[in-house]
Amino acid sequence: MTKRLFIKTYGCQMNVYDSNRMVELMAPLGYASTDTPDGADLVILNTCHIREKAAEKVFSELGGLRRLKQARQRAGGEMLIAVAGCVAQAEGTEILERAPFVDMVFGPQAYHRLPDMVARATHRAGEQVLDTSFPAEPKFDHLPQASGAAGVTAFLTVQEGCDKFCTFCVVPYTRGAEYSRPAADVIAEAGRLAGSGAREITLLGQNVNAYHGAGLDGREWGLGRLIRALAEIPGLDRLRYTTSHPRDVDAELIAAHRDVPQLMPFLHLPVQSGSDRVLAAMNRRHTAGEYRRIVDRLRDARPDLALSSDFIVGYPGETEEDFAATLALIREVEFAQAFSFKYSPRPGTPAAGEDDQLRDSVKAARLAELQALLQEQQRAFNRACVGRTMPVLFEKPGRHDGQLVGRSPYLQSVHADTPDHRIGEIIDVTITAAQPNSLAGSLVNPLLAPGEAAA
Ligand code: 5AD
Ligand code: SF4
Repeated sequence: MTKRLFIKTYGCQMNVYDSNRMVELMAPLGYASTDTPDGADLVILNTCHIREKAAEKVFSELGGLRRLKQARQRAGGEMLIAVAGCVAQAEGTEILERAPFVDMVFGPQAYHRLPDMVARATHRAGEQVLDTSFPAEPKFDHLPQASGAAGVTAFLTVQEGCDKFCTFCVVPYTRGAEYSRPAADVIAEAGRLAGSGAREITLLGQNVNAYHGAGLDGREWGLGRLIRALAEIPGLDRLRYTTSHPRDVDAELIAAHRDVPQLMPFLHLPVQSGSDRVLAAMNRRHTAGEYRRIVDRLRDARPDLALSSDFIVGYPGETEEDFAATLALIREVEFAQAFSFKYSPRPGTPAAGEDDQLRDSVKAARLAELQALLQEQQRAFNRACVGRTMPVLFEKPGRHDGQLVGRSPYLQSVHADTPDHRIGEIIDVTITAAQPNSLAGSLVNPLLAPGEAAA
């Protein structure tokens, strides 16, 4: 009999990738995914710990699941509840204590043992399973091959973990030390994805450009080299990677931006702050000047490169002057898009123990000012696209009938009147209007049949 599996995924793309792998892992055991926890036999919360109140959100979600589980038991059934991901890794024991009805708690490095854990939880009802170990052997070796059942765009994890230890960040503790998958495995998975229809692959890693996997030639490959190899896979028209660290942008990666047309001209390169004092306190291991120089070199290599970044305001001890330096860096670099956050102390990280924490009102005011500037830049970038023609990879139906939504090379959403059968095609679109978060356009050759090239 088919069993039902419901996974709720929080946080980053790596969690989305992990959740998809868990679905694949459970399929041979008769589990099919469902989009509601109602009536599910196994519910997994794949959690994120990066920002505030992550654990509180999980506990409140668990409250609702407990009621479903009890209802199921009264009806003579069983529903297993699992907490996975980074909150599980960081607060596993507390979850088991505070939520005794949870059957399994496991971290991001343990989910390849999910079938085993489910078997243990099923056969020894009442026993809670906790697995937050960092196995010596990489989990990728123990996962079945990713099925390659892909959409038009797909994610592929090439690297995991982080050795940088930025003082505000939980990732080195929840995801563990850096690990890079061998290039052969990555290329094989990319080939399967392309074979099943993916035209764009985003390479994922917490610190993806720290990639240093075993290459096909027996040497260690960096991300630039890996990208060159992936660009040879037929049918794979677009490559992206995220998230990168400025320290790990090397000459080879910059050269890939120059030489590999499949590598899209959009880069998410977090800087966090424009103040050298704050960057040093954060243990970022780069200055604002070094960041500017990296951006210059990247733009020399690929003049139309659009940039995105992450910013933290209100880091402990951040002065008005530090904050002004961040605004100055933003004005100089100009970002097409960005994410920004108020600093929030994460238990167990060095910055959380600093005694010069800022008041929330100060953080809120700085965040509002920073976001106003970033939004203005995003609008200006989008407006500058109006009148240009660019290739759009159409991914899914839009809000209105007869409309599809796709992505520009710069990762903007583009809406255009396009027949449904053109999903999965890359089509030239002239941009006619810009909204703050998306573009509208019309096809250069609206009547062209699928696959037919313009003269
Ligand atoms: N407080 C605020 N923002 C944080 N980030 C990571 N940790 C914290 C924290 N403690 C942000 C960083 C990172 C992004 C994924 O989340 O900007 O790049
Ligand atoms: Fe966290 Fe990124 Fe710093 Fe690693 S490089 S510690 S993932 S912010």
